Amino acid sequence: MTEVPLFRDGERCGQSKGVSNMTHDEPPSGGFSTPVGSRRTFFHWITLAAAGVVGLGLAFPLVGTLVSPAFSRRRREWVDVGGVEELPAGRPTQLDHVTTVRDGWLEAKSQKAVWAVKQAQGEVKVFSPICTHLGCGYRWDETEKKFLCPCHGSAYDINGQVLGGPAPRPLDVLPSKVEGGRLLVMYQDFKSGLSKSVEV
Ligand code: FES
Repeated sequence: MTEVPLFRDGERCGQSKGVSNMTHDEPPSGGFSTPVGSRRTFFHWITLAAAGVVGLGLAFPLVGTLVSPAFSRRRREWVDVGGVEELPAGRPTQLDHVTTVRDGWLEAKSQKAVWAVKQAQGEVKVFSPICTHLGCGYRWDETEKKFLCPCHGSAYDINGQVLGGPAPRPLDVLPSKVEGGRLLVMYQDFKSGLSKSVEV
């Protein structure tokens, strides 16, 4: 059997003369352009990177909007509890109102009461309605001129200072302000039994 040479005069065996040996991956003679396959890959990655940047730019605010309420602290609102003019000076008045508390995704409305004391000069102080001992509700006794708690006998003066009983601290003062003649209060709950006010 006769052995057929693979190459003859620099040509692949079987190719006719005059046919170029240049493949598609080789640059044209004398040119410096990027190979077609590499260029396509380059633009592919650039497109992916740009899409990624745009996607992240849109995703971060969206995720933040969805997740942030779950981590946010309990939020309360100012509530109009009545006109200041209607409050008698020097005599505590119980004011009932509905307050809204937002805790993460939860929103709850509840009926609350506060004690407002208008001073002779017109300044108003607002107290939490909860006894600082163990959390009972107290009342103003007009005869004794004291706030009295029925549970264990704590007593407070008109400024909320402890007069007697096991109460460990004065009555808790709530944030309040007057706007347009209206008394606005931000209701808060505090831990009982502590010597200092600590919000729940
Ligand atoms: S809860 Fe008021 S005195 Fe105990």
